[in-house]
Amino acid sequence: MTFPLLEDKVAIVTGAAMGMGEATAKLFAEAQAKVVIADFNEEKGKAVVEEIKKAGGEAAFVKVDISDSEQVQKMVQFAVDTYGKLDVAVNNAALTPDDKPVAEFDEDYWDRLIAVDLKGTALCMKYEIQQFVKQGNGGSIVNISSVSGFRPQPNNIAYVAAKHGVVGMTKVAALEYGPQNIRVNSVAPGAIDTPMLRGALEQFGLNEEEYAPQLSLLNRFGQPREIAEASLWLASDQSSYVTGTTIHADAGYTSR
Ligand SMILES: NC(=O)c1ccc[n+]([C@@H]2O[C@H](COP(=O)([O-])OP(=O)(O)OC[C@H]3O[C@@H](n4cnc5c(N)ncnc54)[C@H](O)[C@@H]3O)[C@@H](O)[C@H]2O)c1
Repeated sequence: MTFPLLEDKVAIVTGAAMGMGEATAKLFAEAQAKVVIADFNEEKGKAVVEEIKKAGGEAAFVKVDISDSEQVQKMVQFAVDTYGKLDVAVNNAALTPDDKPVAEFDEDYWDRLIAVDLKGTALCMKYEIQQFVKQGNGGSIVNISSVSGFRPQPNNIAYVAAKHGVVGMTKVAALEYGPQNIRVNSVAPGAIDTPMLRGALEQFGLNEEEYAPQLSLLNRFGQPREIAEASLWLASDQSSYVTGTTIHADAGYTSR
């Protein structure tokens, strides 16, 4: 059990059916938030709700494709209808990187990835902030960027563009809504052991022993819960004077 940092708070976590989103939803529930699990994977999302409830937490599932404005609006409304308000959101859902160099990138995949990772994150902020403004009591948003939001990675043009964009959008929203005590920050994870990372390793024929030391000063991949801890601090009132910034939860990758 963790310190109840989110007692009485209502939180949306997108992409919470697996990986870091799942770990974040579970940690937030331990911290006593009421958590909306928002994902387009209904089966896995509902399973996460059941696990949280079994552990004594409170959660509900809403099916959403974050690239669809109407669905995102309904996601926020679902949180309000179910739990009465919204205090916190972690905009985490994203598609995985492409695997082609710039001169060959797949334009259809570019469109889909940008629609989810960049516009989808913007849509989430749009409707979450509308709700915060309506409530008049501030709020905290955590957008999940990546080391790819700060450094180039090969064969990843759309993903790198989107994750740089997430950092920029975070600063814009922080600037515009700071006066209303709406804080907007991001977390930029390094190599975290999730289905997304495992898929990328398989795709590029890499193994953990050789690859982890290139990506981490700690010589290991991170665990999803280690990212969830950073999001928890930013989401909670413990970080009340922090906005418009990024926590680099990357085991020193970007400091090298
Ligand atoms: N895994 C890593 O090493 C790593 C590193 C840096 C940043 N990130 C970022 O962290 C976040 C989580 O990554 P992960 O590895 O846990 O991913 P993951 O692929 O394991 O999980 C992503 C979740 O998002 C959901 N999702 C995808 N598109 C969606 C959409 N359009 N609408 C709603 N839900 C959608 C999926 O169903 C899934 O549950 C992402 O933003 C990712 O870019 C991951």
